[in-house]
Amino acid sequence: NIPPGPKPWPLVGNCGHFLIPGLILKWLRKYHGGNDETKDFSPVLPQVILMEQSKVYGNMYSIFVGSQLVVILTGYEIVRDALANRADVFSDRPDVPIITIMTKRRGIVFAPYGSVWRQQRKFCHATLRNFGLGKLSLEPCIQEELAFVKTELLRLSKDANGSGINPAPLVSNAVSNVICSISFGRRFDHKDQEFRTLLDLMARGLQIIVDGPAVLINVCPLLYYLPFGIFKDIRKAEADITIFLKGIIAQHSSSLDPDNPRDLIDMYLVEVAQQKERVGAGETSFSEDYLFYIIGDLFVAGTDTTTNTILWTLLYMCTYPDIQEKVQAEIDSVVGPDRVPSLTDKARLPFTEATIMEVQRMTVVVPLAIPHMASQTTVFRDYTIPKGTVILPNLWSVHRDPTVWDNPDVFNPCRFLDKNGQLVRRECFIPFGIGRRVCMGEQLAKMELFLMFSTLMQAFTFRLPEGLPPPPMHGRFGLTLAPCPYAVCVTPR
Ligand code: HEM
Repeated sequence: NIPPGPKPWPLVGNCGHFLIPGLILKWLRKYHGGNDETKDFSPVLPQVILMEQSKVYGNMYSIFVGSQLVVILTGYEIVRDALANRADVFSDRPDVPIITIMTKRRGIVFAPYGSVWRQQRKFCHATLRNFGLGKLSLEPCIQEELAFVKTELLRLSKDANGSGINPAPLVSNAVSNVICSISFGRRFDHKDQEFRTLLDLMARGLQIIVDGPAVLINVCPLLYYLPFGIFKDIRKAEADITIFLKGIIAQHSSSLDPDNPRDLIDMYLVEVAQQKERVGAGETSFSEDYLFYIIGDLFVAGTDTTTNTILWTLLYMCTYPDIQEKVQAEIDSVVGPDRVPSLTDKARLPFTEATIMEVQRMTVVVPLAIPHMASQTTVFRDYTIPKGTVILPNLWSVHRDPTVWDNPDVFNPCRFLDKNGQLVRRECFIPFGIGRRVCMGEQLAKMELFLMFSTLMQAFTFRLPEGLPPPPMHGRFGLTLAPCPYAVCVTPR
């Protein structure tokens, strides 16, 4: 008695329902839009299709991807019920062949639910908290990065002479540099060769995984070992990343002072040594090899997500100039023009915070979370969910759920404010997920979003170039939901 759903086709299951719109989208883009990103393709975005189908089959329904049973959860109530109230059963991750081959299911994001994941996550979570306060506080690093971003924005917009600039590379480099500061204890000049190599390798690796024939590795894992084409490229990108990150870890190891850890790598190496002493090398999951996967996870999980959220906030400010003015007025009155915003200002900038949250509500950069898996057979809401079922919580549907949000399709930051203009927490706001697999970098991401958004709003006014059609607001689905590429005119205030 599994949840209801569309009838699967032999072999492919329900892939046709999703692949066909996806292929149509690609075809439309290629032959009917060229690179024209202004066309509205929102009806074929996976999270939208899945939400539409819930109107037919209910807020919990099944589809088959090949022979794999996948249960889709739609709306706040059932997502919370599964991921928070039944976290004991629904917190595992599925075995996705291409990811398993590349990560050996180490790190945190795709680690199976169990003691290794728990130990590693606990350590990394606590370590990330160190970067919020105290000696290793990230605030000055982010402010230094933002000073550079502001100078670059000015320079680029002068060169562009009113025609608008693409903010994506600059924002992406700045966000990556924050992860570099945490992991490697330093930021890089955006043109630094080592930095460029790292980012290019990561981008190349991820692009290959989500795009094109590499996905076939999930159907036939042996393809990964083919000595030609895209399969060879994947292995090359993976080998290059390994050499690069292992080199950095080795440098840290040789210059480590256990009493003065400089960054996350140092702290982890100290933990490896302590664990070996305490329980013996064979008994602990902490090792230099595991650290490599942790660093990879921080880059993969922490860069695209935060970058795209910032890019969305800028696009929304261009689209809603009245809201942009209100944010700027609040920052002017609380912070003024003579110093940059700091985390201590956050509590006194409720409208600015509400605006970031409303952009996150509308956009949802990880719309289907990261797939969960049932770790045992269970009965949930009168249906049987067999062990190994993939669970997809549609976070996008939670933020568009009309039972918990008034006019969910309307952009309105005031929904996060009470009648005195103070911020109200809404438990159905879950851009970072919910339950035991909730985003490990939530606090860090919130800190980055606040500092970056408020600093940019204080310094500049953003608007779309005149005479060009605005980009559609539904975004483009990939590893995360990015805004469609746009150019922006930046005017100093
Ligand atoms: C997982 C959102 C930034 C590290 C997740 C998940 C979401 C999410 C929805 C999946 C939750 C689930 O599976 O139920 C976001 C958003 C971000 C952001 C919206 C920025 C605006 C970051 C940052 C880091 C990070 C900056 C770390 C540097 C992780 C990790 C996981 C995760 C390690 C996996 C957790 C686990 O499996 O236990 N994030 N994230 N994220 N995120 Fe983030």
